[in-house]
Amino acid sequence: MQKKIVAGNWKMNTTFQEGEALVKAIIAGKNETPDDVLLIVAPPFTHLCCLTEPLREAGIGVAAQNCASEEKGAYTGEVSAKMLASIGVEYCIIGHSERREYYGETGEILLKKVQQSLSAGLRPIFCVGEVLAEREANRHFEVVGQQLDEVILKLTPADFAKTIIAYEPVWAIGTGKTASSEQAQEIHAHIRKVLVGKFGGAANDTAILYGGSCKPSNAKELFAQPDVAGGLIGGASLVADDFIAIAKAG
Ligand code: PGA
Repeated sequence: MQKKIVAGNWKMNTTFQEGEALVKAIIAGKNETPDDVLLIVAPPFTHLCCLTEPLREAGIGVAAQNCASEEKGAYTGEVSAKMLASIGVEYCIIGHSERREYYGETGEILLKKVQQSLSAGLRPIFCVGEVLAEREANRHFEVVGQQLDEVILKLTPADFAKTIIAYEPVWAIGTGKTASSEQAQEIHAHIRKVLVGKFGGAANDTAILYGGSCKPSNAKELFAQPDVAGGLIGGASLVADDFIAIAKAG
């Protein structure tokens, strides 16, 4: 039985001091969470160097929210996957809809980021998901299929085995609207089918997380679906009690 994963994406929130306090509260609450739930926290870059050690000592995974698409060199302002790995970061969120929408990250760029992460030893948490108009036009399977095709289906089986997928319908992110557990299961099963089609039985072990207005009140039902391996949590991960309550639902 695979561990469930509950990952907190802090986005561009918290000063360093606020982040430090949040980590302390999450560490304090961790002993209330089931052993078979892996907690992961993704603070902003500025916080990672100081917060990685206490988080890892507490048995909590550490993720970055992004990394550069290039290995190193004259790319002012960028942070490489290798730099992240060198301070003990273990995971990297890649392809979040906010990166796709506001920073123009295409499939081509995201494939490079995923490959940089994997070659530095980071496990990618690769996000896919459709916007509202695509869902309403019943194109969500096609859109998610293409996002997987551009990046994940291009990986070697060994790299694929290290990859985590997060399905995040864009219409549910930060809106308070959650996909129903039936909608989540339906598309998670579709994602699994696409992955099995390419990588065979190995894809039965791939963790596919749900993200988008996941909160303590809906986490249990979502996580109970057979193809939902946990959640990628935005807003609710900024409140330690809510994040811990979501983990308890795992
Ligand atoms: P949300 O964000 O939980 O605030 O909807 C989820 C995400 O963007 O990862």
